[in-house]
Formats: sequence, C-alpha cells, structure tokens
Amino acid sequence: MTVKSTNITTVAHRVTKEARWRANGHKGGVLWFTGLSGSGKTTLAFELERGLHEKGRRVYVLDGDNVRQGLSADLGFSPGERTENIRRIGEVAALFADAGYIVITAFISPYRRDRRQARRAAVDPFHLVHLSAPLEVCEKRDPRGLYKKARRGEIADFTGVSAPYEAPEHPDLLIDTARLSVDESLALLTDYVDRCFALPGRDAEG
Ligand code: ADX
Repeated sequence: MTVKSTNITTVAHRVTKEARWRANGHKGGVLWFTGLSGSGKTTLAFELERGLHEKGRRVYVLDGDNVRQGLSADLGFSPGERTENIRRIGEVAALFADAGYIVITAFISPYRRDRRQARRAAVDPFHLVHLSAPLEVCEKRDPRGLYKKARRGEIADFTGVSAPYEAPEHPDLLIDTARLSVDESLALLTDYVDRCFALPGRDAEG
C-alpha cells in the first residue's frame, strides 16, 4: 500500500531487537495460520498459546472472530474487505513480532497474494502454517453451524461454499488436521516453534 502521509520519517527504537530477544530468551516473529473455517485454526492457536505461555514464552494470538469485533469491525467478507483485513493483521502481527512476541495469527486468509503481503510486512521470522483439512471434513465439523447457513444461502461469500480458498503451494509447515488429533497437531506445532524461535546457542527446550 502506498503511504498517504507526507513529511513523516522513520524513527529508530533505542531498544534493539536483539536486546528484546535476549530478555525474552527467544526470537520474536509470526506464526501465520491459514485454513478453511473449521480447519482448527482457533482451537490450535489458543491451545498453542497456552502451552507456550506455560513454558515462559512471550506469545499472543490474533484471531479472526475477535479482531473482526474491534480492529476490523468495519469490514465484511468481500474480496476487498478480506484483503484489507489481512493487511491490517499483517501489520499488527509485524508490530507484535517487533516487540519480541511470538504472534500466532488465526485467519482464513484465503488469498495467496494477501499472505505474501503479510510475509513482506514482517521483518522478523514469518512461518506460514497450513491447517489442512478437506472441505467435507470442515463442513461436517461445522462448530458454529455456519456451513449449514451458507448452504441454505443465508451467508453470502462463505469460504469454500461461495467464496474461494487458495491453499498455499509452499507452506513452511502443513498440519493435516483431518488425520491428526488436537494433541498430535499441538505436539508438531510446539516442536516447530521451539526450533524456529530458538536463539542461536540456546537450548530450545530451555
Ligand atoms: S478472512 O477471510 O478475512 O481471513 P477471518 O478469518 O477474519 O476471514 O474470519 C473468518 C471467521 O468469520 C470464520 O471463522 C467464521 O466464524 C466467520 N465468518 C462469518 N462470515 C463468513 C464468511 N462469509 N466467510 C468466512 N467466514 C465467515
């Protein structure tokens, strides 16, 4: 996005990124979940947050349903509004990461282009995690009855039913949530975070 303001300059923080990482004992960065509604994003994001917090990690979840009641309260589900939603989340996630946090984002984020833009916004490590489950499986789970509503024509532009989902071609990590249990998925994610956000020379389990 082009910057509209003129007469603005970038001001450097007096606290370096390395100092924040040392204080936290791990790197900051973004763990970006993408997947259909019902693929497990929210469940896994909040369980992972709990587990990492208990291990002393600085971690925070940005979740679609929550963010759409605040920061993105003015946005619906048209392609343009989803793009704007993901742009905002990408920028907020980048700020959290810069502050030293492991930020887990749980948004459908259906468009490849928008996910690429979010990766560009993040200066720190960015890992794209595809929570992959076939539409039929997600539709069967239907935790909030939204697929049923969408099939009845009561929700327009519903991802997988009347709006597209562009699966990542090269995710950094793929979790098959149709085959794996929540606990198995969590074990893979925890191990991945321990490896990817460890500081050089530090025991990842520390
Ligand atoms: S995104 O496409 O912009 O990334 P986001 O993750 O914020 O979507 O919001 C998805 C959540 O909004 C779903 O989990 C579901 O609970 C709810 N929702 C309501 N309407 C729709 C819709 N038309 N398509 C998808 N999800 C919807």
